[in-house]
Amino acid sequence: MAPVKIGIVGAGMIGGTLGRLWLRAGHQVRFGTRHPETLQGVIEEEPTLASAGSAEDAAAFGDVVLLAVPLAAVPGLGPSIAPFVAGKVVLDASNPYPDRDGAVATEATEHPGGCSAWVASHLAGAHVVKAFNTVYFRTLEEQAHRPGDGLGITLAGDDPEALATAAALVRDAGFAPVMVGALDEGRRVEPGTPTYNTGMSASELALALGVA
Ligand SMILES: NC(=O)c1ccc[n+]([C@@H]2O[C@H](COP(=O)([O-])OP(=O)(O)OC[C@H]3O[C@@H](n4cnc5c(N)ncnc54)[C@H](OP(=O)(O)O)[C@@H]3O)[C@@H](O)[C@H]2O)c1
Repeated sequence: MAPVKIGIVGAGMIGGTLGRLWLRAGHQVRFGTRHPETLQGVIEEEPTLASAGSAEDAAAFGDVVLLAVPLAAVPGLGPSIAPFVAGKVVLDASNPYPDRDGAVATEATEHPGGCSAWVASHLAGAHVVKAFNTVYFRTLEEQAHRPGDGLGITLAGDDPEALATAAALVRDAGFAPVMVGALDEGRRVEPGTPTYNTGMSASELALALGVA
């Protein structure tokens, strides 16, 4: 797709990996963390396209925002980034892990719409798409732009335009989108489900999930 501004809230394993892939595709990326000074390396790799600041800076910068922080950080971040992401596409890579996220993981898992609907409840007005939560970051690094049947990335969301934008960014990063359904259908691709972290291709995922 034509170059867009992408804000990445959280620049660790998943945010850092996807940010680099989108930079290679020509998009502008601003990473947002509590320690932006640690991102000098990636900025030097792509000085005209990459920048770093706070979570709020990244949320304000992006026309599209990737949320890639541990889930336990979401309740604290929500009030400060929600005003900046209202009306925007937010790609939510979050997963609930009780060992890492404590009671927040249980709360998100027990939400009737699943983890991403719980995330969306902290980001009023954002068009949240569950994306990139199912694949280990090293697999993303190694399998981007592989020939043939691309590595599948599941997408779940309620807004058709947001889903189309997410699908385009999945392709630009080097993968193949698989539409799972509405945001609450994202429960089908959370930790512990059959296709989670299997590294399936798009066609294998579509078959396993029974989607087009
Ligand atoms: N790792 C994977 O392969 C993978 C794959 C799919 C999905 N996921 C999911 O993606 C999410 C992120 O996982 P990760 O493995 O990328 O985590 P990570 O490597 O620990 O990175 C987390 C990032 O978030 C930042 N951060 C943490 N708290 C913050 C806050 N309050 N405000 C702003 N930035 C904050 C951290 O930087 P500072 O500490 O400097 O702020 C760091 O850049 C999780 O929900 C995870 O389950 C991970």
